[in-house]
Amino acid sequence: MESLLQAANSAIKENQKEIKPRWYPEYHLAPPVGWMNDPNGLTWFDGYFHAFYQHHPSSPEWGPMHWGHARSRDMVRWEHLPVALAPEGPEDRDGCFSGSAVVAGEKLALIYTGHKFHGQPVDENLYQVQCLATSSDGVTFQREGMVLDTPEGLHHFRDPKVWREKEAWYMVVGAKKQGKGEVQIYRSADLRHWDVESAIAGEAICSAYMWECPDLFPLGDKHILMFSPQGIAAEGYRYRNLFQSGYVVGSWQPGETFAPEGAFQELDHGHDFYAPQSFTTPDGRRVIMGWLAMWESVMPEKAGGWAGMLSLPRELTLSEDGRVCQHPVKELETLRGTCEQWQPAKLQQQTVILKEHVRAMEVQVEWDTSSSDAERYGLSLGSGARIYVDNQSQRIVLERHYPEHNISGYRSVPLPEGDLLRWRLFIDSSSLELFINAGEYTMSSRIYPSDDDRQMALFSHSGNATVHHACAWPLSAEEPS
Ligand code: FRU
Repeated sequence: MESLLQAANSAIKENQKEIKPRWYPEYHLAPPVGWMNDPNGLTWFDGYFHAFYQHHPSSPEWGPMHWGHARSRDMVRWEHLPVALAPEGPEDRDGCFSGSAVVAGEKLALIYTGHKFHGQPVDENLYQVQCLATSSDGVTFQREGMVLDTPEGLHHFRDPKVWREKEAWYMVVGAKKQGKGEVQIYRSADLRHWDVESAIAGEAICSAYMWECPDLFPLGDKHILMFSPQGIAAEGYRYRNLFQSGYVVGSWQPGETFAPEGAFQELDHGHDFYAPQSFTTPDGRRVIMGWLAMWESVMPEKAGGWAGMLSLPRELTLSEDGRVCQHPVKELETLRGTCEQWQPAKLQQQTVILKEHVRAMEVQVEWDTSSSDAERYGLSLGSGARIYVDNQSQRIVLERHYPEHNISGYRSVPLPEGDLLRWRLFIDSSSLELFINAGEYTMSSRIYPSDDDRQMALFSHSGNATVHHACAWPLSAEEPS
């Protein structure tokens, strides 16, 4: 009989032909077919970056979770590999949920959540345990079963992130305890036996009912606790998405619990960025990738046989004032074609068309904010997407309007101080990722323009705007021939 894993790989082969290219990304990692959510097991092994992801191969809807798998030499050109894990064990029969990967000796080890219900799918019947699978070739995995049972009294207990610190393995796991989110820290000598070290009680940091996908890593001279809390209520311009992803700066060392030194901050301020996970590159950079979508959002790409994609890899740095800044990894520059430059310009209540049919591009624009008095000035892509400075509210706004897909609304961040405002924008078939100044803010949203509505323009409304510099590169992830 065909195993679930074999069935998943056959389904992909079969259904892949049905994929509609309209919104399928040109240079982001998306599932070959079917559904994708969180990035999992981001790591470097055997000469490749590996990205696994939550995957439902047989449908563009979320369902029994598998681990999809791709690898890359450079983090920007990805090659799909067979599905790594299917929910076929007694411990993960309802899903192989999120987790991480580490290199242990000669092997690549995946540590993930086995998800199952005993009876009806309600919280009281939910069991989430941590499981192990290992591989020598980085392509096929041997399941080694459960390595950490659910602690007494918990049901939501998931998304293990493992790392090595001196002589031991450490792991953070997200949990819901008496209706509140928290993180538990474990320690192990062999990845198979885990002892609890401490808990990071959530309430002092942010009030959420569950913390998903925790990660704890050094950055500069601090430690960053990154996680995706569920249940924070919207507050003015903040926390507008259904769930958030963010971080707290603090300190940590083995044997101690995490000591927060600041408040919870959102990582990205667009509509679609969730469940980021970090990894380190061989040259020591700390990089994150997130899911470029959000639970319960519309995702019109489902009509094309797939749903969800990952963000670009972003290198993290810590600013002097203790903020995590994000920078597109330098490898992205290898996707660039020929540069197009536009002359510096003063837009006088006008719209200047830069380019038609924009599908996969990196765009850089520098504005002189001190001499820009327009009520609004910025960049538009087709009739549905605009990024602009709103001078009245002193904010940068990312706005989408696709009424035919029931998608309309905006997100915004404060306009940073200083006369020069730098935007680096990555446009793909159905996504925008904006990096502001030195990565102090990012805004990432999915977009759904029709094929004949992808004209890129700069505009100023009710006043003037000064463009110091504007240039763009077409991007392609095709291997150079
Ligand atoms: C986060 C999450 C994880 C879980 C996975 C299930 O988006 O809900 O907590 O492991 O997705 O697909």
